[in-house]
Parts: sequence; structure tokens; C-alpha cells
Amino acid sequence: MIMDGNGRWARRRGWPRSKGHRRGSRTVRTVVRSAPELGIGVLTLYAFSSDNWGRPRGEVDGLMTLLERYLRDELGRCVDNGVRVNVVGRRDRLEAGLLEAVQAAEERTAACRRLHLRLAVDYSSRELLTRAARLFSLRERGGQRYFSSCLNRVMHSDPAAPAVDLLIRTSGEKRLSDFLLWECAYAELVFTETLWPDFGAAQLRQAVEEFRSRRRRFGLVEASPAGKRRAS
Ligand code: FPP
Repeated sequence: MIMDGNGRWARRRGWPRSKGHRRGSRTVRTVVRSAPELGIGVLTLYAFSSDNWGRPRGEVDGLMTLLERYLRDELGRCVDNGVRVNVVGRRDRLEAGLLEAVQAAEERTAACRRLHLRLAVDYSSRELLTRAARLFSLRERGGQRYFSSCLNRVMHSDPAAPAVDLLIRTSGEKRLSDFLLWECAYAELVFTETLWPDFGAAQLRQAVEEFRSRRRRFGLVEASPAGKRRAS
């Protein structure tokens, strides 16, 4: 899920962008609560791209604080609700406090099975694909399945996640922005004009319903209803 539009949501109200990110954080809580009820087993949220490091220092710090707060505040609720937390992306540039919160959340929720929540932080598909390719080349033979396992390994995806079925992007933008490029090979794309802070359970349900109404062919001739596969 590409959570876009926090800045615009705030600016339209004459508020600082940081307020939009805080409201966006609230939407994250709503979406995580609603996802399992809609049959979603794996949910990946694009929280901070590697390119986002180029934003003003204050905004970057604010986002990192929100992430750490989310991981610390929601930990108990995640355990109670069977949400397995996993942060995917690079870890070597995260500050010690955030890294500690990431490790604590992953350890405490490791046995949770209702929802696999992946937060993409310092994430760049192209960079991870390059790293995975390096790992892949160390072995003489290996196909797509092995490449996927290399990719999951370099991005710290634990457990490994399946290919993406449904990708949602908010705020009217229609791009992939270096997100899950390999995993989205056959993803159904749903774009909504709603800004992320205004997104909620009803919009998520609507996107899943749209996904279920699509005919997925995976390059074949026979059409199969999308809903027969699990949304992720
Ligand atoms: C893009 O919108 C959004 C982000 C770069 C950050 C997403 C972060 C959150 C929703 C809050 C923290 C996350 C978690 C998981 C607790 P934008 O700000 O670029 O919007 P704009 O296009 O309107 O400027």
C-alpha cells in the first residue's frame, strides 16, 4: 500500500506537513485493524522510501519519531490481535532507538499469525534487487524462486512474503515509486483520489471489492475471478 497525500491533506487546512503525517499514522492503525477482517493476510505499508532521506531534516526526524512511536505504542495491541510485525528495507541507516523498537516488535510478535504486517522503511526496490542479484550470483544455479528468496533475505522479510495480489495507492498519484517492483509483476493496481489521512476501513473494503471483481489471467487465456486468490 502506498500511503500518499499526508502533506497535501495538511496544507489544504493551512497546517504543517507534520500534522498530515500524524493523521496518516492514525490511518495506519485503522487499516491494520480492518485488514484481517477483509481476508488480507499480508499487508505491506510504504512508510519511508530511501529517496525520502532527501526531504527536509525536520520532516525526516518527524517521520522516524512517528515510526518508533507506532512500534512502541502498538506492540501490545499487535500481540493481542495476532499481528506479526516486520520492518523491510535497509537497516544500517536507522537510528539506534528505532532499530531497538523494530527488533523488539519483531521478536514479541514472531508467533502471531493473523496478519503479517510489513512496514517498508528505508526501502528502495531497485537497491534491494541489486543486492539480491549479487547474492543470487554466488550460486551457480537457481531460478525465480531462489531469486525471490534472495530478495526476501536482503530486505529482512521474515517470513518471506508471497507475490503482491493488490497494490493500492492513495491521493490520485499513479506510480509505483520504486515499491515492490519484483513482487508486483501480476499485482492488480487500485488508485484512489482519497488522501491517506482520509482513507479508512470503508475505502479499504471498496478497494478489496474492486480487486475481487477483476479477472486475473496471469498471461493465460482462461479468466479466473481475482477473489479466488488471497488479497495481500
Ligand atoms: C507520502 O505522503 C507519505 C509518506 C512519505 C510517509 C508515510 C508515513 C505515515 C503514513 C506515517 C507514519 C507511518 C507509520 C507506519 C506509523 P506525502 O507526505 O509525500 O504527501 P504529499 O504527496 O501530499 O506531499
